[in-house]
Amino acid sequence: MINPFPFTARVRLWFRFFTRISYRRDLPLVVRAFQTRRTFPLPDATWSAIEPLDGFLSRKEAGVLHWAACEWRAPGPVLELGSYAGRSTVVFARAGRTVHAVDAWSLDVADLSAFGGGITSADAVFARFQANLRRAQVEDRVFTHRGLTHEVARQWDLDGAILFIDAGHTYADVRGDLDLWTPHLKRDGILLMHDVLGDVYLNVTRAASELLREGWRVQASAGSIVAFTRQ
Ligand SMILES: C[S@@+](CC[C@H](N)C(=O)[O-])C[C@H]1O[C@@H](n2cnc3c(N)ncnc32)[C@H](O)[C@@H]1O
Repeated sequence: MINPFPFTARVRLWFRFFTRISYRRDLPLVVRAFQTRRTFPLPDATWSAIEPLDGFLSRKEAGVLHWAACEWRAPGPVLELGSYAGRSTVVFARAGRTVHAVDAWSLDVADLSAFGGGITSADAVFARFQANLRRAQVEDRVFTHRGLTHEVARQWDLDGAILFIDAGHTYADVRGDLDLWTPHLKRDGILLMHDVLGDVYLNVTRAASELLREGWRVQASAGSIVAFTRQ
């Protein structure tokens, strides 16, 4: 089979990324992410369940979420910030974890110019998420919390074993999610962040690389996702 993404194109992409990041600041994170890069298998049935759903979570990235849900030693639920149409939610739930999905499901914060899928109202965004959970037969394992992540955090009192951050992508959004939600991650839990690697969301890269100076270490990476644990 012809590789649609040849080696030279990949080198070019990574070169672009390396020339755009601030070396002193983000290089330790990027190097560590490459050292821990792995391919995590994803069951075909899970990929078939999420492939038709709107969103950008790739098969590689779904693989690392599936691995964390199945293999990570800490028992307990997933706290998912940013669910959109449900790709990541379905992966975690199909792997057997209870998921607390936090998302505004609103037209203001969902970047529908990037996503879309013919959706024209906030309630339609939310209804589609719920319908996708029903179709994947995981609605019993998913609790939805509709609102801005920083507002939902104010009355949150449940600790998770896995924290997945994929909501707002500005520096303030990501920094705020880390500050407000990592206290709700169990000591032996795992933190997964989407869009850390690559040259599109450099604010996310910056917020993630700060974690290395705050007592976190890189556990694994796949696609644009980096997984962190506390030292
Ligand atoms: C990139 S999408 C999440 C994709 C999803 N994880 C998947 O696997 O397809 C980002 C989601 O975060 C939500 N979002 C963005 N900023 C938010 C905020 N401050 N509070 C709550 N939700 C937010 C958007 O509504 C959108 O649904």
